[in-house]
Amino acid sequence: MQLGILYGISVGTGDPELITVKGLRILQAADIVTFPQGIGNKPGVAQQIISQWLKPQQITIPLNFPYVRDQDILESAWQKAAEIVGKYLRQSKNVAFACEGDVSFYSTFTYLAATLKKLYPEAVIETIPGVCSPTAAASELQIPLTVRDERLTILPAIYTMTELETALDSAEVVVLLKVSSVYQQVWQILKKRGLLESSWVVEKATCRDRKIYQNLQSHPHLQLSYFSLLLIRVLE
Ligand SMILES: C[S@@+](CC[C@H](N)C(=O)[O-])C[C@H]1O[C@@H](n2cnc3c(N)ncnc32)[C@H](O)[C@@H]1O
Repeated sequence: MQLGILYGISVGTGDPELITVKGLRILQAADIVTFPQGIGNKPGVAQQIISQWLKPQQITIPLNFPYVRDQDILESAWQKAAEIVGKYLRQSKNVAFACEGDVSFYSTFTYLAATLKKLYPEAVIETIPGVCSPTAAASELQIPLTVRDERLTILPAIYTMTELETALDSAEVVVLLKVSSVYQQVWQILKKRGLLESSWVVEKATCRDRKIYQNLQSHPHLQLSYFSLLLIRVLE
């Protein structure tokens, strides 16, 4: 019997209408819809984004991807998730995985897909591109992300401030993901370099409760959600 197909679908950063026409068509046609499990008893972000698009007959399955850095714990979670998905593919059912933002941009889907391929080398996996957080944030700010020959550096997480200093030395536009835990140290560097007025924080871009912080001079301390990024224009 032929295996079903696993689709990684980009569902955008919050506004349900940011899914592509293709992504929506494939999402609604899938037998099984999976997404990263939320924290506690809350629905996950991708699940919330797609809930209005799902059909009553579709089976939804949250997959557990723990927010830890321990490789053994992560690999065992990917293995378990791939086994769950594999079980349905073996029944010739198509499985959609809903990914917040874009599926190729720092997404858990990459690990799920790689683990599934190890278990089922013959499995067919397709990804549907979409809107990622830096472009969504630029849209919220009503500014272009980049123009002309500007260089863009994206730091997915900052573990040392030297990484940030190096990025500021070499690019015109710098986007910091996962900025919530290091915001105060970043703020000090932006202050030292006179960049507070050309930096913005966008929290929950394109969500109903999104917030924008500009002129960071007056925001030395911010308690930000995980879904926040900081955009710096180095040449202003
Ligand atoms: C693991 S990455 C996932 C990126 C996602 N796949 C995307 O396409 O943007 C998570 C980080 O992306 C950023 N992010 C994701 N969604 C966001 C949103 N709606 N608003 C602001 N930042 C967001 C945050 O910096 C967050 O810590």
